[in-house]
Amino acid sequence: MSLLEIIQPDNPALRRQALRINDFGAPLQDLINDMYETMIKAEGVGLAGPQVAQSLRLILVRLPDDDDSQETYGEEAGKLYVVANPKISKRSPDTVSGVEGCLSLPGLLGDVERHQSIEVTGQDRNGSPMCLQASDWLARIFQHEIDHLDGKLFIDIATRVWRPEEENSIVEKEA
Ligand code: CO
Repeated sequence: MSLLEIIQPDNPALRRQALRINDFGAPLQDLINDMYETMIKAEGVGLAGPQVAQSLRLILVRLPDDDDSQETYGEEAGKLYVVANPKISKRSPDTVSGVEGCLSLPGLLGDVERHQSIEVTGQDRNGSPMCLQASDWLARIFQHEIDHLDGKLFIDIATRVWRPEEENSIVEKEA
């Protein structure tokens, strides 16, 4: 396994529409393993193909054991979801606002409105169909990662974006 470079918006690959996965062979398995290692090392809770310059509809989502506690980010524990060709098949009408960051946008946080719960359909890492329900924090991560597959970043839809290390500095888009 090897660590991959997480690209930032200066690389146009981050903004591309990612391609559907049809081949679940060894190259994809290697990519999943490398993305997992990269996500853990970066202390992320999710990673999408375009973030490592792979134009593939692939996301990894990690729910730390201690559920909503953001303090467990850095630990390797937690439930891992690997979804190829994910699609949001159901969305709750109710939405919630919450704070998001992104490994591709270091130093930025934003308030983002997301559906409170969703149903995601897609394929597992071997290509078998899968379907899962997610709510709250997990639903937020899935929506964020699936957006990456369409070249969308949280700053595109955030109501407010700021740099936490510069207290009170609102970068753009105050609601
Ligand atoms: Co992101």
